[in-house]
Amino acid sequence: MNEPLLIQILTLFPEMFEGPFNHSILKRAQEQRLIEFRFVNFRDFAYDKHRMVDDTPYGGGSGMVLKPEPIYRALQAAKAVKPDAKVILLTPQGEVFKQERARQLAAYRHLILICGHYEGFDERIRAWVDLELSIGDYVLTGGELAAMIVSDAVARLVPGVLGSENSAVHDSFTENLLDYPQYTRPFEFNGMKVPEILLSGHHAQIEAWRRKQALKRTAERRPDLFQKLVLTEEDQRLLKEE
Ligand code: ADE
Repeated sequence: MNEPLLIQILTLFPEMFEGPFNHSILKRAQEQRLIEFRFVNFRDFAYDKHRMVDDTPYGGGSGMVLKPEPIYRALQAAKAVKPDAKVILLTPQGEVFKQERARQLAAYRHLILICGHYEGFDERIRAWVDLELSIGDYVLTGGELAAMIVSDAVARLVPGVLGSENSAVHDSFTENLLDYPQYTRPFEFNGMKVPEILLSGHHAQIEAWRRKQALKRTAERRPDLFQKLVLTEEDQRLLKEE
């Protein structure tokens, strides 16, 4: 059996991860030894009397800055567990995290995620990381929630984590296309009916209808993604239909 993907998370707040990582698919993936999470609290690597992890900024200013030494030592300890780690820092200044990057990270055997906290971190920490990721253009109180999101998006792409191996192949964003609308029973609810085509049993027509809906939806809601699509002649024909 393959070794699990090891994701080590450097954080001052490992307890924050207990809820999200211990339910549903992530829980099962750990039980099946497809992924393994380990937490390294870098406060354990602060050796002074007060176990200080942050300090005031050189040059003055408000707030505290994470010190480099505890993070450096924690990182060395994390790297020693398994070779070839990809070291990732969560920060709003990083590359914006997208599905393509999630897919790439899912191919690694060892990821180390560093969660910043407080008002900032010593700039020298940047020298030890391979990649900086942001989950979007807003500022969180720390990197923990971002690390959870990156872990979740990567974990579900590890082969075997989702029920069937190709469940993730047709995800939204895999081909810059939003999902088509889905329906289940009942046929009519609150006066709203399921589109008749879906009950027709005509698979080719259903496929065409779904493709058209996905294209239209993407054009309306995400023109930025739509612009990147390479449309086939059939796509162009579907888009011209009413
Ligand atoms: N830390 C604080 N805000 C963040 C963001 N948007 N992405 C990643 N890490 C963060």
